[in-house]
Amino acid sequence: MTIIDGKAVSASVREELKGEAENFAARYGRKVALAVIIVGDDPASHTYVNNKIKGCEQVGFRSICHRFDDGVPQEQVADVLKQLANDDTVDGILVQLPLPKGYDSEYLLSLIPDSKDVDGFSPANTGLLSMNRPNTVSCTPLGIMSLLASTGRELKGKHAVVIGRSNTVGKPMAMLLLNADCTVTVCHSRTRDIAEIARQADILVAAVGRAGFVTADMVKDGAIVIDVGINRIDGKLYGDVDFASVAHKCSYITPVPGGVGPMTISMLLKNTLQAAVNRLK
Ligand code: GUN
Repeated sequence: MTIIDGKAVSASVREELKGEAENFAARYGRKVALAVIIVGDDPASHTYVNNKIKGCEQVGFRSICHRFDDGVPQEQVADVLKQLANDDTVDGILVQLPLPKGYDSEYLLSLIPDSKDVDGFSPANTGLLSMNRPNTVSCTPLGIMSLLASTGRELKGKHAVVIGRSNTVGKPMAMLLLNADCTVTVCHSRTRDIAEIARQADILVAAVGRAGFVTADMVKDGAIVIDVGINRIDGKLYGDVDFASVAHKCSYITPVPGGVGPMTISMLLKNTLQAAVNRLK
């Protein structure tokens, strides 16, 4: 069994981005720029946003952060988004999700032009992925594809089982694996006998949001297990996979923390650089 080192893969992505960001700045006379919008005081969301800003600094991007209190009129957030959309020196825009109750995230996200949608959440970017003509792809599933590539294992023809069907992780993950010639099964909260299906997986991706959901009896010997879970219990992080019982059955497994998590922001930075280059083409 090999533990996939997300921190190491992530660091090498960022090292590469650093060089590309320098070239961009030298060529275009400005830094690649990412704008982040956050509303409300959810501590986990603030941690993510702070890490995104730190990531920008690390690779030499400019970051712009708009923090709003919960209760700010939606139109005020919309105005900032419209201004960022029209600012030629801003390459990527993201709204940290979830937004507090009462905000229309569909409307607010629709104000981000597809060309600056570095989260890959827009209907156009989602549709292009499903047509296997990917433009910008959701960061977490994209990071998982890099982690799978780091194993050197062939994906073609493998049975991949994705547990979770969110628009941000489960669905784009299934599409990426399908585009990589896997046979893909998507399980969700209404699936009957998840364990039986999970046991058939050569590649098992757990994006359920329940600590320790995947247990040893659900894993085939030699499977690659990817744990997307970030479940905070009493300040400690737990994955969706019961690592202690599952690890010895796997060929490869991602730990929590230090697996998928570090990759997500690296992919966001990569998407931002790509958006910058594409917009100037
Ligand atoms: N909230 C949790 N994950 C994400 C993400 O990848 N992007 C955004 N914008 N919000 C999130």
